[in-house]
Amino acid sequence: MGVEVSVEGLTKSFGSQNIWRDVTLTLPEGEVSALLGPSGTGKSVFLKTLIGLLHPEQGSVIIDGTDITKCSAKELYEIRKLFGVLFQDGALFGSMSLYDNIAFPLREHTKKKEHEIRDIVMEKIDLVGLTGAEDKLPGEISGGMRKRAGLARALVLDPQIILCDEPDSGLDPVRTAYISQLLIDINAQIDATILIVTHNINIARTIPDNIGMLFRKELVMFGPREQLLTSEQPVVKQFLAGDRFGPIGMSEEKDEAVQKQEEAMQAAGISGGGTKEDFTEIIPQVQPNPGMPERKAVKRHRERVMAMLHTLPPQAQEAILRSMEEEDRIRAESDAHASNMAGGNAAAGGEWTAAPAGNVAVADAKTDVIDYGGSDAPTEQWQTDPLTKRGQHAADGNEGRTTQE
Ligand SMILES: Nc1ncnc2c1ncn2[C@@H]1O[C@H](COP(=O)(O)OP(=O)(O)O)[C@@H](O)[C@H]1O
Ligand SMILES: [Mg+2]
Repeated sequence: MGVEVSVEGLTKSFGSQNIWRDVTLTLPEGEVSALLGPSGTGKSVFLKTLIGLLHPEQGSVIIDGTDITKCSAKELYEIRKLFGVLFQDGALFGSMSLYDNIAFPLREHTKKKEHEIRDIVMEKIDLVGLTGAEDKLPGEISGGMRKRAGLARALVLDPQIILCDEPDSGLDPVRTAYISQLLIDINAQIDATILIVTHNINIARTIPDNIGMLFRKELVMFGPREQLLTSEQPVVKQFLAGDRFGPIGMSEEKDEAVQKQEEAMQAAGISGGGTKEDFTEIIPQVQPNPGMPERKAVKRHRERVMAMLHTLPPQAQEAILRSMEEEDRIRAESDAHASNMAGGNAAAGGEWTAAPAGNVAVADAKTDVIDYGGSDAPTEQWQTDPLTKRGQHAADGNEGRTTQE
């Protein structure tokens, strides 16, 4: 089961440049959370601080009872075994094939035989839709494919905490939807605690149980997704709408005079370019594919949210209750669909199977990939064949999950 990550009073600077201060939040065990924020607000720095790659000046990060900001190197090494990390740039070894990149954590940290490694690697390659590309070097494929290879590598051992830094960057909307679904399916199967760092509003709207946002060196809010999506805070509204009018400027923040000017422009009917979508209209959360186990976190999340409901703004309360109702309805429909499929030739019904409750690890290599452009190679195919080998590695141990610096 996933492990809670409890962050308290965390402050990080580089020299005299403060990145963020006094960040307090808890990633609840097994729940999916998203961290939003404009570029440069320190989202990636936050992620790296959570795994102890960067060291905060103040505050604590408690994982499994250990404060990783203060523990010994040996303890940190052990704690890191709980993590699977997809870094923003994929962080692949440029001189190794995708196959070897993905096999790396298994070869490095387990005693598995090559044929066992092969099964796991090919299954993950299949899972992220890279079948046929396993012999390519990272420099020979598109950014989106590298991203997916990075995800496959993050999943080859059995992580209880999965951190994904912009899993959608470099991916088109359809592939983004596949990756998002994959994360939800993985969550359903292994109940891992997941943090997705993103500025993709669609992901934020439909995937996480909780959302937080960093802005002006602070955590603006962190709570149930409905709380942020219905927020009246100008910075949140501007960010969701993707509008240039508001507190977020091209380079971090705006002064008052500029904001006044903008208000006048808006009053004169000039558009800030944002969508006019109503984010308070909550879109139902993406559910695991039919045939997947139920997400265990749903029940825990609900209990937690109901206990804190009275502390939330009225519009958030209302949205939470509405979306719970809606999700119950969808889940019931999906269950009915699954049992229908189970009656017949089930798997042919388009089920898209994710990782077995197997075995995942941390992928954290030095990147030496330079080329990040180019379009996806023609070999790239998302694997939609539902007949994957789910459960095949379920008996594999968790030995040696780790990350290397
Ligand atoms: N290792 C580092 N040394 C010095 N400054 C850094 C380092 N890593 C990140 N920064 C700075 O921290 C700020 C936040 O960066 P980052 O976390 O990458 O932002 P985001 O992921 O939100 O776009 C940036 O100003 C960046 O230059
Ligand atoms: Mg980043």
